[in-house]
Amino acid sequence: MASPRNVAVLVGSLRKDSINRKVAHALIELASSSLKPEIVEIGQLPIYNQDSDPNPPEQWTAFRQRICACNAVLFVTPEYNRSVPAPLKNAIDVGSRPYGQSAWFGKPGAIVSASPSAIGGFGANHHLRQSLVFLNVPAMQQPEAYIGHADKLFDANGKLINDSTRKFLQDFMMAFATWIDANSKA
Ligand code: FNR
Repeated sequence: MASPRNVAVLVGSLRKDSINRKVAHALIELASSSLKPEIVEIGQLPIYNQDSDPNPPEQWTAFRQRICACNAVLFVTPEYNRSVPAPLKNAIDVGSRPYGQSAWFGKPGAIVSASPSAIGGFGANHHLRQSLVFLNVPAMQQPEAYIGHADKLFDANGKLINDSTRKFLQDFMMAFATWIDANSKA
Protein backbone atom coordinates (compact mmCIF):
# COMPACT_ATOMS: atom_id res chain seq x y z
CA MET A 1 0.00 0.00 0.00
CA ALA A 2 1.26 3.52 -0.83
CA SER A 3 2.37 5.58 2.16
CA PRO A 4 -0.11 8.19 3.37
CA ARG A 5 0.03 11.67 1.86
CA ASN A 6 1.28 14.33 4.30
CA VAL A 7 -1.16 17.20 4.35
CA ALA A 8 -0.22 20.54 5.92
CA VAL A 9 -3.32 22.06 7.53
CA LEU A 10 -3.16 25.86 7.88
CA VAL A 11 -5.69 27.51 10.18
CA GLY A 12 -6.37 31.15 9.38
CA SER A 13 -7.39 32.13 12.92
CA LEU A 14 -4.96 32.53 15.82
CA ARG A 15 -7.77 32.69 18.38
CA LYS A 16 -7.63 30.15 21.22
CA ASP A 17 -11.29 29.21 20.88
CA SER A 18 -11.31 29.41 17.07
CA ILE A 19 -14.22 27.76 15.30
CA ASN A 20 -11.96 27.16 12.30
CA ARG A 21 -9.43 25.32 14.44
CA LYS A 22 -12.28 23.09 15.63
CA VAL A 23 -13.29 22.50 12.02
CA ALA A 24 -9.65 21.68 11.20
CA HIS A 25 -9.53 19.12 14.02
CA ALA A 26 -12.76 17.56 12.79
CA LEU A 27 -11.35 17.34 9.23
CA ILE A 28 -8.17 15.71 10.55
CA GLU A 29 -10.20 13.18 12.52
CA LEU A 30 -12.46 12.37 9.56
CA ALA A 31 -9.69 11.95 6.97
CA SER A 32 -9.16 8.52 5.48
CA SER A 33 -6.00 6.54 6.29
CA SER A 34 -4.55 7.51 2.90
CA LEU A 35 -4.00 11.01 4.32
CA LYS A 36 -1.83 12.19 7.20
CA PRO A 37 -3.04 15.71 7.96
CA GLU A 38 -1.27 17.84 10.58
CA ILE A 39 -1.72 21.46 11.60
CA VAL A 40 1.27 23.63 10.70
CA GLU A 41 1.23 26.68 12.96
CA ILE A 42 1.49 30.15 11.39
CA GLY A 43 1.11 32.54 14.34
CA GLN A 44 4.83 32.60 15.13
CA LEU A 45 5.90 33.75 11.65
CA PRO A 46 7.43 37.26 11.56
CA ILE A 47 5.69 39.54 9.06
CA TYR A 48 7.17 39.03 5.62
CA ASN A 49 9.73 41.62 4.55
CA GLN A 50 11.66 41.10 1.33
CA ASP A 51 14.73 42.75 2.88
CA SER A 52 15.12 39.66 5.07
CA ASP A 53 15.31 37.18 2.17
CA PRO A 54 19.14 37.02 2.19
CA ASN A 55 19.15 36.29 5.93
CA PRO A 56 15.70 34.93 6.81
CA PRO A 57 14.36 34.47 10.35
CA GLU A 58 14.58 30.84 11.45
CA GLN A 59 10.76 30.65 11.72
CA TRP A 60 10.47 31.36 7.98
CA THR A 61 13.02 28.69 7.11
CA ALA A 62 11.38 26.09 9.35
CA PHE A 63 7.96 26.89 7.90
CA ARG A 64 9.19 26.72 4.29
CA GLN A 65 10.85 23.36 4.97
CA ARG A 66 7.68 22.05 6.59
CA ILE A 67 5.56 23.02 3.57
CA CYS A 68 8.14 21.64 1.12
CA ALA A 69 8.05 18.31 2.95
CA CYS A 70 4.28 17.89 2.61
CA ASN A 71 2.35 16.47 -0.32
CA ALA A 72 -0.66 18.77 -0.14
CA VAL A 73 -2.09 21.70 1.74
CA LEU A 74 -5.47 22.29 3.33
CA PHE A 75 -6.52 25.82 4.31
CA VAL A 76 -9.20 26.24 6.97
CA THR A 77 -9.99 29.87 7.44
CA PRO A 78 -12.38 32.49 8.71
CA GLU A 79 -13.26 35.53 6.68
CA TYR A 80 -11.94 38.89 7.86
CA ASN A 81 -13.47 41.82 6.01
CA ARG A 82 -14.30 39.66 3.00
CA SER A 83 -10.75 38.35 2.70
CA VAL A 84 -8.38 36.05 4.58
CA PRO A 85 -6.94 37.04 7.97
CA ALA A 86 -3.51 38.69 7.84
CA PRO A 87 -1.61 35.78 9.49
CA LEU A 88 -2.73 33.43 6.74
CA LYS A 89 -1.81 35.87 3.96
CA ASN A 90 1.54 36.35 5.70
CA ALA A 91 2.13 32.57 5.79
CA ILE A 92 1.31 32.37 2.09
CA ASP A 93 3.75 35.19 1.32
CA VAL A 94 6.51 33.70 3.50
CA GLY A 95 6.11 30.32 1.80
CA SER A 96 6.18 31.87 -1.66
CA ARG A 97 9.69 33.38 -1.41
CA PRO A 98 12.57 33.76 -2.17
CA TYR A 99 11.54 34.29 -5.77
CA GLY A 100 11.69 31.07 -7.75
CA GLN A 101 11.74 28.86 -4.64
CA SER A 102 8.08 28.85 -3.64
CA ALA A 103 7.22 26.06 -1.22
CA TRP A 104 3.68 25.96 -2.59
CA PHE A 105 4.49 25.30 -6.23
CA GLY A 106 2.40 22.44 -7.65
CA LYS A 107 1.06 21.17 -4.32
CA PRO A 108 -2.58 20.12 -4.51
CA GLY A 109 -4.75 22.22 -2.19
CA ALA A 110 -8.23 22.59 -0.78
CA ILE A 111 -10.05 25.31 1.13
CA VAL A 112 -12.64 25.20 3.88
CA SER A 113 -14.03 28.44 5.27
CA ALA A 114 -16.20 28.67 8.36
CA SER A 115 -18.09 31.55 9.92
CA PRO A 116 -20.91 32.20 12.36
CA SER A 117 -22.60 34.05 9.49
CA ALA A 118 -24.85 32.41 6.92
CA ILE A 119 -22.48 32.69 3.95
CA GLY A 120 -19.73 30.69 5.62
CA GLY A 121 -16.72 32.79 4.66
CA PHE A 122 -17.40 32.62 0.92
CA GLY A 123 -15.46 35.86 0.31
CA ALA A 124 -12.31 34.61 2.07
CA ASN A 125 -12.56 31.25 0.36
CA HIS A 126 -12.60 32.84 -3.08
CA HIS A 127 -10.06 35.54 -2.31
CA LEU A 128 -7.67 32.79 -1.27
CA ARG A 129 -8.28 30.96 -4.55
CA GLN A 130 -6.96 34.03 -6.36
CA SER A 131 -3.56 33.67 -4.64
CA LEU A 132 -3.50 29.94 -5.26
CA VAL A 133 -3.83 30.47 -9.01
CA PHE A 134 -0.65 32.55 -9.00
CA LEU A 135 1.13 30.09 -6.69
CA ASN A 136 0.28 27.17 -8.97
CA VAL A 137 -1.59 25.31 -6.24
CA PRO A 138 -4.32 23.31 -7.97
CA ALA A 139 -7.25 24.01 -5.64
CA MET A 140 -10.06 21.47 -5.45
CA GLN A 141 -13.20 22.85 -7.08
CA GLN A 142 -15.85 20.52 -5.69
CA PRO A 143 -17.21 20.07 -3.16
CA GLU A 144 -17.05 23.73 -2.14
CA ALA A 145 -16.94 24.16 1.62
CA TYR A 146 -18.51 27.28 3.10
CA ILE A 147 -19.50 26.29 6.61
CA GLY A 148 -22.17 28.75 7.79
CA HIS A 149 -23.55 29.11 11.34
CA ALA A 150 -20.40 27.28 12.36
CA ASP A 151 -20.60 28.53 15.95
CA LYS A 152 -23.55 26.15 16.45
CA LEU A 153 -21.76 22.99 15.31
CA PHE A 154 -19.55 22.18 18.32
CA ASP A 155 -20.14 21.38 21.97
CA ALA A 156 -18.31 22.99 24.90
CA ASN A 157 -15.42 20.53 24.43
CA GLY A 158 -14.98 21.42 20.76
CA LYS A 159 -16.58 18.19 19.56
CA LEU A 160 -18.57 18.29 16.32
CA ILE A 161 -22.21 17.64 17.19
CA ASN A 162 -23.90 18.03 13.82
CA ASP A 163 -24.27 14.77 11.88
CA SER A 164 -24.87 16.27 8.45
CA THR A 165 -21.77 18.48 8.81
CA ARG A 166 -19.76 15.42 9.89
CA LYS A 167 -20.86 13.57 6.75
CA PHE A 168 -20.12 16.62 4.59
CA LEU A 169 -16.61 17.03 6.04
CA GLN A 170 -15.89 13.32 5.67
CA ASP A 171 -16.98 13.39 2.01
CA PHE A 172 -14.88 16.53 1.53
CA MET A 173 -11.76 14.75 2.79
CA MET A 174 -12.48 11.72 0.59
CA ALA A 175 -12.76 14.00 -2.43
CA PHE A 176 -9.54 15.76 -1.37
CA ALA A 177 -7.68 12.44 -1.19
CA THR A 178 -8.79 11.70 -4.76
CA TRP A 179 -7.81 15.23 -5.81
CA ILE A 180 -4.33 14.86 -4.29
CA ASP A 181 -3.78 11.58 -6.14
CA ALA A 182 -4.97 13.08 -9.42
CA ASN A 183 -2.72 16.14 -9.06
CA SER A 184 0.44 14.53 -7.72
CA LYS A 185 3.44 13.53 -9.78
CA ALA A 186 4.04 10.32 -7.79
C1 FNR B 1 -14.77 39.11 11.36
N1 FNR B 1 -15.86 38.28 11.10
C2 FNR B 1 -16.36 38.19 9.81
N2 FNR B 1 -17.27 37.21 9.48
C3 FNR B 1 -17.71 37.08 8.21
O1 FNR B 1 -18.49 36.17 7.93
N3 FNR B 1 -17.27 37.93 7.24
C4 FNR B 1 -16.38 38.93 7.49
O2 FNR B 1 -16.00 39.65 6.57
C5 FNR B 1 -15.91 39.08 8.81
N4 FNR B 1 -14.98 40.05 9.15
C6 FNR B 1 -14.34 40.02 10.36
C7 FNR B 1 -13.24 40.85 10.60
C8 FNR B 1 -12.56 40.76 11.78
C9 FNR B 1 -11.34 41.63 12.01
C10 FNR B 1 -13.00 39.86 12.80
C11 FNR B 1 -12.23 39.74 14.10
C12 FNR B 1 -14.08 39.05 12.58
C13 FNR B 1 -16.41 37.42 12.16
C14 FNR B 1 -15.70 36.06 12.16
O3 FNR B 1 -16.32 35.22 11.21
C15 FNR B 1 -15.82 35.42 13.55
O4 FNR B 1 -15.14 36.23 14.48
C16 FNR B 1 -15.25 34.02 13.55
O5 FNR B 1 -15.54 33.41 14.79
C17 FNR B 1 -13.75 34.01 13.31
O6 FNR B 1 -13.28 32.69 13.14
P1 FNR B 1 -12.60 31.88 14.32
O7 FNR B 1 -11.60 32.75 15.00
O8 FNR B 1 -13.71 31.51 15.30
O9 FNR B 1 -12.04 30.67 13.67
